Amino acid sequence: MAKVYVTCRVFPEELERLRAAGHTVEMRDAPGLILREKLLEKVSEAEALICLLSDRIDAEVIEKAGKLRIIANLAVGYENIDLAAAQAAGIVVTNTPGVLTETTADLTFALLLAAARRIVEADAFARSGAFYGWELLQPHLGLEVHGKALGIVGMGRIGTAVARRGRLGFGMDVLYHDPHRNKPAEAELQAKYVSFEALLEKSDFVSIHTSLTRETRHLFDRQAFLRMKKTAILINVARGPVVDEKALVWALETGQIAGAGIDVYEEEPKVNPGLLKLQEHVVLVPHIGSATSKTRRAMARIAVDNVLAVLAGEAPLNPV
Ligand code: DGY
Repeated sequence: MAKVYVTCRVFPEELERLRAAGHTVEMRDAPGLILREKLLEKVSEAEALICLLSDRIDAEVIEKAGKLRIIANLAVGYENIDLAAAQAAGIVVTNTPGVLTETTADLTFALLLAAARRIVEADAFARSGAFYGWELLQPHLGLEVHGKALGIVGMGRIGTAVARRGRLGFGMDVLYHDPHRNKPAEAELQAKYVSFEALLEKSDFVSIHTSLTRETRHLFDRQAFLRMKKTAILINVARGPVVDEKALVWALETGQIAGAGIDVYEEEPKVNPGLLKLQEHVVLVPHIGSATSKTRRAMARIAVDNVLAVLAGEAPLNPV
């Protein structure tokens, strides 16, 4: 029977499944992130670790984790884990693919609509008591969404789900850029494969759905913003460092682009102070792409299923 350490609060019924299988489970029952020293201490005893994207599982952690057999990341992304170090130590790493695709695509569209139609600003206005009646030139005139060009950077599962919403729900023309052609999306959604530069130049909405790699870090820099339409809106629900935040603040402040809907940040949990000052067509949320009860529950279930499998000597269900 094994010791499982969980770095964050997880639905109790999921952890019960581990206990029912005879394992000892210790869950860090506190809000916020685990302190580094605590992680290093706890990991030295654990045979299974359930952790967050925000927990840095680097070579130092892995070196301390002499008994560890599995790291079950509560996310589809896993750039927080030193995969090479884990592999060298014979530790399985798993993620939670599939279950958060539609939920994240929903949030992408929520941000897109909110930034284009200035929902957050209008909400604050209505609550402030400043609404004095309908008039033609209202203070919150926004940008059209239907029928516009939607540029998707990274046409994987989530990118395709966003493209589907744009095409089928809002009659948008879908352009995409990705290292690989997505022929099914081209057939289903009349999505057009274009170069990154063409996508920036032609899109009214640019939505980022690529993973964070050496190639995609700061893909959106000043040069990229200079290519975008002045009326364009950038949406990022993927990974903060894909965007050079300083360049984004510059682009928004100077009117190089019209707005942004941002869920992820370059140095989470810090939010760039320059972004905080901007309101018009700018919507900021705290990394909530997958944050519905149903989806977060499904993510926990997958992590536990993987831990159960590996501790039972079986193959993991979602190895990365
Ligand atoms: C992931 O799973 O990678 C997300 O960013 C967390 O919702």
